[in-house]
Amino acid sequence: MRLRLLPAPPFRFSPAGGHPKHPFATLLFSLVLTATLASALPGTHSDGSAQGPPRYKGRIIAPVMSAAGADWLNRPEREQTEMPDRLLDALQIEPGMTVADVGAGIGYFSWRIAGRVGAEGRVLAVEIQPAMLERLEAEMRKRDIRNVRSILGTPVDPNLPARSVDLALMVDVYHEFRHPEAMISRIRQSLKDDGRMVLVEYRGEDPAVPIRPEHKMTVQQVLLEILPMGFRLQSRLDFLPWQHVFIFVKDSGNRPAPSN
Ligand SMILES: C[S@@+](CC[C@H](N)C(=O)[O-])C[C@H]1O[C@@H](n2cnc3c(N)ncnc32)[C@H](O)[C@@H]1O
Repeated sequence: MRLRLLPAPPFRFSPAGGHPKHPFATLLFSLVLTATLASALPGTHSDGSAQGPPRYKGRIIAPVMSAAGADWLNRPEREQTEMPDRLLDALQIEPGMTVADVGAGIGYFSWRIAGRVGAEGRVLAVEIQPAMLERLEAEMRKRDIRNVRSILGTPVDPNLPARSVDLALMVDVYHEFRHPEAMISRIRQSLKDDGRMVLVEYRGEDPAVPIRPEHKMTVQQVLLEILPMGFRLQSRLDFLPWQHVFIFVKDSGNRPAPSN
């Protein structure tokens, strides 16, 4: 992917587009993804504009991370910079819960959550890229984890069961949604009444966070986008070195229909 000022990734990053350069795999992935997105909905921009990169409420929507660069998601230094176990501790995940890991990648968070929800709980690991899901499933088999269900989503629908999710987690994902309102509307429908939706995003206000700008988000931008989608901010956690953590719950007085 394109966080990409990090030390020695196993591949070369494009200075302009930010995708890893694996010659044929990356080209093929780009063509397939472009065709998929183009066929999913008419038009190319979530805010209705026709020129330039896709935008939503002034923000450039980041390109989807290529599965060709998925090893980057397992980089060892991630434990220090993103503290996955401390993050999950803070989210108070209990045995028996149903947790949706939306944009699960290769399952970096899914297997950690699986241990916390236990045999009575389940993890619904949603991805838009089959190649990511294949690697996620292999990882779960390797770890003999049986309470993770992989789900192939689309750019507008995570295909989650309605009113069934206690916690929907998106780590470094929301900024890639090509159709944010459609996705968040569906995720909202999947939540139980007291369900929580958590966004973890690299801090856009902090130039010291070595991430490309379109892969970061400011507090102001996240609230500008998410609050009108029928949520209120329950709390924001800022103990992670590089990321904001936003915990949202349903705002029952505000339930707009998606327009993208
Ligand atoms: C930067 S990766 C993060 C993966 C994982 N959350 C992690 O922290 O290791 C973002 C992932 O979101 C996925 N993604 C982007 N848009 C999506 C959508 N609309 N539905 C499901 N997954 C999506 C991408 O395919 C990619 O694997």
